[in-house]
Amino acid sequence: SQQASTAPAFPVPANVFVQTVTEVRHFTDRLFKFRITRPAEFRFRSGEFIMIGLPNAERPVFRAYSIASPFWDEEIEFYSIKVPGGPLTEHLQKIVPGDTVLMRKKPTGTLVLDALIPGKRLYLLSTGTGVAPFASLIRDPETYEKFEEIVLVQTCRDVDELTYITEMVEALKDDPLIGELVGDRLRLHTTTTREPFARMGRITDLLTSGEFFEQTGLPRINPDEDRGMICGSAAMLKDTKAVLESFGLVEGANNAPATFVIERAFVG
Ligand code: A2P
Repeated sequence: SQQASTAPAFPVPANVFVQTVTEVRHFTDRLFKFRITRPAEFRFRSGEFIMIGLPNAERPVFRAYSIASPFWDEEIEFYSIKVPGGPLTEHLQKIVPGDTVLMRKKPTGTLVLDALIPGKRLYLLSTGTGVAPFASLIRDPETYEKFEEIVLVQTCRDVDELTYITEMVEALKDDPLIGELVGDRLRLHTTTTREPFARMGRITDLLTSGEFFEQTGLPRINPDEDRGMICGSAAMLKDTKAVLESFGLVEGANNAPATFVIERAFVG
């Protein structure tokens, strides 16, 4: 039967949930999203990540994945890159509905609202799959209770790589649960670096040159009003952190809230 063929072939450790894939969508040859069933007792804070693995070895390879779905979603969603030869994504990219995914039980992370002191505007700055934790945060009512305005930025190489977040933000306005709360308070600013598009350039360069503020009509980032979260590659984090610091923002953490926080976008 289907059940028998998808059941883990190896013993599952005690700290791991065994879940079923419900949906897979490939956006490009490098990017896909997948959804899995959610254990009834599983709780997380928007922006956190969790370790994911496949039951295809006695000692499965686990990789960190930001949870892209909101806490109120009855399933869990992830947004993933496909790394050629990657120990997990090489196999994970082939999953189909009905397959089994392993998920460790304890979520964690720094991209949480509690790590920021109150402010007016929240900047969510991402490149590539770094947008995943923000896909969760932009669907959390608490984000809109804490901030008047949310500015979500994603820089990608190509236009197709912007589809995941662009479609999500468009659909959000009509969402029966939080569409009204979101209203026009969520702004999405997408840019590309390698394929012609309406807005081009790395977000770091656009912020530093001031082009971003000219394009959006937003005031220059300032520590009195603005808070930030950054998620991308190690190089992107380093550069974007320097940009926010140049505007006077200070890095915080769960136990020491401040005006911005960072987290590496995970690959493997
Ligand atoms: P670029 O095309 O100039 O490298 P990747 O898919 O390699 O993770 O990159 C995602 C996006 O992040 C690309 O548009 C890439 O621009 C951009 N990027 C790469 N490194 C940095 C960085 N240090 N700061 C800001 N953006 C970056």
